[in-house]
Amino acid sequence: MNAGTNHMKNPVPPGYSVISGRSNQTLNAYLGTCVGVALCDHKADVGGLIHIILPEPTGNNSQENPENYAATGLPIFIDSIMRKGAARERLEATVAGGALVGPLSELDMELDIGGKTIDIVEKILDAQKIHIKSMETGGLFSCKLGLNLFNWESRIDPIGMPSADDERELERPSRDQLAKTIENIRAVPQVLLKAIRMIQDEKSDISAVAREMRQDQVICSRVLRICNSAYFGRKIAVDSIDRALILMGERQVLRLMLSSAFEDFFSKNARGYSLCKGGLFYHAAGTAMICERLAGLTGIIAPDRAYTAGLLHDIGKVVLDQYTGNAFPFFYRRTQIEGDELTAVERDVFGVSHDEVGEMLARQWGLPDSITDVIRHHHYPENASVSVELVHLVYLADLIMSRVMVGQELERIDTSSLASRLERIGFRKDQFAGLIDNIPSNLFDVQYH
Ligand SMILES: [Fe+2]
Ligand SMILES: [Fe+2]
Repeated sequence: MNAGTNHMKNPVPPGYSVISGRSNQTLNAYLGTCVGVALCDHKADVGGLIHIILPEPTGNNSQENPENYAATGLPIFIDSIMRKGAARERLEATVAGGALVGPLSELDMELDIGGKTIDIVEKILDAQKIHIKSMETGGLFSCKLGLNLFNWESRIDPIGMPSADDERELERPSRDQLAKTIENIRAVPQVLLKAIRMIQDEKSDISAVAREMRQDQVICSRVLRICNSAYFGRKIAVDSIDRALILMGERQVLRLMLSSAFEDFFSKNARGYSLCKGGLFYHAAGTAMICERLAGLTGIIAPDRAYTAGLLHDIGKVVLDQYTGNAFPFFYRRTQIEGDELTAVERDVFGVSHDEVGEMLARQWGLPDSITDVIRHHHYPENASVSVELVHLVYLADLIMSRVMVGQELERIDTSSLASRLERIGFRKDQFAGLIDNIPSNLFDVQYH
């Protein structure tokens, strides 16, 4: 169980809950399709927040974490809060989240995961006679639910809402300026490009790629640092790449090599696409992990290829990010509040979108055609021509990431032909909730604030 009562997690990640006595802190949850429930008993000075992903277990979840679901998680959460001294009749609830995944015209029961989660939450609160003090659910955009642990007040706010002094002139780069920005962008090490090419080539094996990567001292020392970090919770020191390979296996080490090499690249951004520090990298790494998991489910794409494609799909944002700082409020309003699709807003503001700029960067780096196809077409996968399945897979991972792991970066993805897009890689529409249920649990363990 993920209950974070001993170790306070704030913001509360999807599939977790936090219960606390009075303190100076405010608990927060960033919600897209997920639903947040804050409960408190003023008199007993105890309260908490749960971040629910899905209405109920889908049957094919590998996590077995009851707190992922309203049907199983909420009763546990209520029980735990009462065990800490709260009285049922004094409990007050605030419910938020459950945004719609797609535009209203496309809405159907299969896709309205947030709506179903809210139904179950309301039923449970009603059956337990818990008073709902305020509730803001559905809608088209993401929000933040906060519970002040000092005065027990809860509030629901739009995410990352810019302040008035953020409003500045928009800067529309010329073609020349863009070409210069692409040219000046820090090149990634050659060894990395070679590794990416090898991974995309189905004939080369993982050991050969790992051998190639370990020649790069900077990458290796970074991987060792991550291996020895609290995140992995290892008791034995990992002092060499060989030891890491033995302890973690080639696949895991390779993933770490790739993601740590790209962390720098993604992290040097202004307040543009990122709603929090490191948001762009977190989005890339999270999408990569979901891609890998989905690849395992479809069986038609090698997981390492999928991981790499997920990691790189949004590299174009790093280029445009240099210009978004000024455009942020406008951007925010269009994508998050008006619900416009991201690439359309970009073309409007910059004259070019991140998928187009990404393709230019990919060509400059000499990335394999399969990855370039992903970078260019991940928002409209039916336009892909080189690696059609891979592009669809990344589209799906990107969609799941942006609706469930809210609060890292600005995105708004078109879902108008989700059913046929799912079908293209062998999934049915009614499996969508089950796919969300397959998100690797360690995604939520990475601190992102
Ligand atoms: Fe994108
Ligand atoms: Fe993305």
